[in-house]
Amino acid sequence: MQDQSIYEKLREYAKSDAYPFHMPGHKRKVDWISDVYDIDITEIDGFDDLHHADGILEEGMARMANAVGAKKSYYIVNGSTCGILAAIYAACPQGATVAVARNTHKSVAHAIMLRGLKPTYIYPQNVDNLCISGQIIPKDVEKAYEQSPEIAAVILTSPTYEGIVSNIRQIADVVHAHGGVLIVDEAHGAHLPYANHGANQEETYLPYSAVREGADIVIQSLHKTLPCLTQSAALHICSDRVSVKKIERALHIFETSSPSYVLMAGMDLCVRYMQGEGKKKLQMLTDRLQLFYERSESWKQLWFLYPKIKSADMISIPIADYTKIVFGAKGYKNAGRKLHEILRDRYHLQPEMSAPDYVILMTMLTDTEEGFLRLEAALSEINDELECSSLVWERTTSAYPSAFVPLELVMLPLEAAEAPVIQVPFFESVGKISAETVYVYPPGCPFLMPGEKISEELLEIVRYYRTSGMELYGMEDETGETLLVIEN
Ligand SMILES: Cc1ncc(COP(=O)(O)O)c(C=O)c1O
Repeated sequence: MQDQSIYEKLREYAKSDAYPFHMPGHKRKVDWISDVYDIDITEIDGFDDLHHADGILEEGMARMANAVGAKKSYYIVNGSTCGILAAIYAACPQGATVAVARNTHKSVAHAIMLRGLKPTYIYPQNVDNLCISGQIIPKDVEKAYEQSPEIAAVILTSPTYEGIVSNIRQIADVVHAHGGVLIVDEAHGAHLPYANHGANQEETYLPYSAVREGADIVIQSLHKTLPCLTQSAALHICSDRVSVKKIERALHIFETSSPSYVLMAGMDLCVRYMQGEGKKKLQMLTDRLQLFYERSESWKQLWFLYPKIKSADMISIPIADYTKIVFGAKGYKNAGRKLHEILRDRYHLQPEMSAPDYVILMTMLTDTEEGFLRLEAALSEINDELECSSLVWERTTSAYPSAFVPLELVMLPLEAAEAPVIQVPFFESVGKISAETVYVYPPGCPFLMPGEKISEELLEIVRYYRTSGMELYGMEDETGETLLVIEN
């Protein structure tokens, strides 16, 4: 047992020289709200009520809708998780068929189970065999409709954790032509509505937000990429294809009945900031990132995702939010984990996360020149050490598996999650039907869902994560050794 309180530990960390390349987006560098206890109230007279807003909160949410270009926006104080649950619950009747990008967050899987939905999966492209999910292609959405014309909604993530953006405009056209609703998890793109896009979205600009690209419902985590407190999020209604009443009913179900005024005040301050000074700061960040990527060209031992896909010339619109610096070291085993540890332990630069083969650093408009210079110095030194072999890492030539493999859906996820089960060793489960959701975190995208038949290819993915030291989550057995499967 530690004597130190959580608060003391946090204060101690705040005073250290650790530089945050992770969320929340305020990066502990704004002090807009320093009197937390003074302003932490409940719904007293004169302060409106989030669930029946007609006063100061309604005005704040209208300001937000206006700022991002939505028809109606809602503050959310339980993160995008709450917005995703509410959006899917509202847009999809019980038992409906939904087309879901396979690389969606676990909250989508949970909504599918809560509503007894039938998922049909759309698989993302693979980025350069890197075990990174790429775009969802409009043609694949069309194919999903050809196979299941009854699809009620299409649900996808854009940008992804790694910053990959799909062509929402074209996907929306496909979905709407079939009478469906497009729900975009833009948890990682709350900054996009405030970005400068130039006249033609030239390549140095950030991608458009799904709000202006034709999505019907867009959910954003303000806390991830904007200067907002953790859990601050928003749901935007962007068209008349969704019922406002149903969305509000769903938010009543999933959102706390005691929403924090501290978070809501923070979101209001953030929107006001982003309408003025914040926009300029975002532009300064993207300019600074261009310089960073130019400098990265000289670190030959390292690869960077953004320049890689830019040169791959995949499609004509910007396809990556390059504020996420995603990188690895060429040909080294477990380089992502090793780079993560070196950045943290030797340079006191804290990454957002690492996968076995790459690291994600989140940059934001709150970043400082000092932060960038420290990062560049660290990467340059690591590169030199790899070059002259003073850093000795095991080499690998093995290919990475895909992040996802198509699996046969034998039962609805909800039915499978509630059916009688038996426990079997994971590596002896081929041919059995899973009763559990399995994912690695981050990014928390299930690669196995209840109701899916386990294949040898799936076990390849599991083996890869295991040998890379990644923990599996979502299973009752926290060691990941055994899995619950349907008894038959
Ligand atoms: C793609 C994606 N969607 C949704 C979420 C959930 O967001 P929140 O943590 O704000 O609930 C996350 C969280 O990591 C995410 O990465």
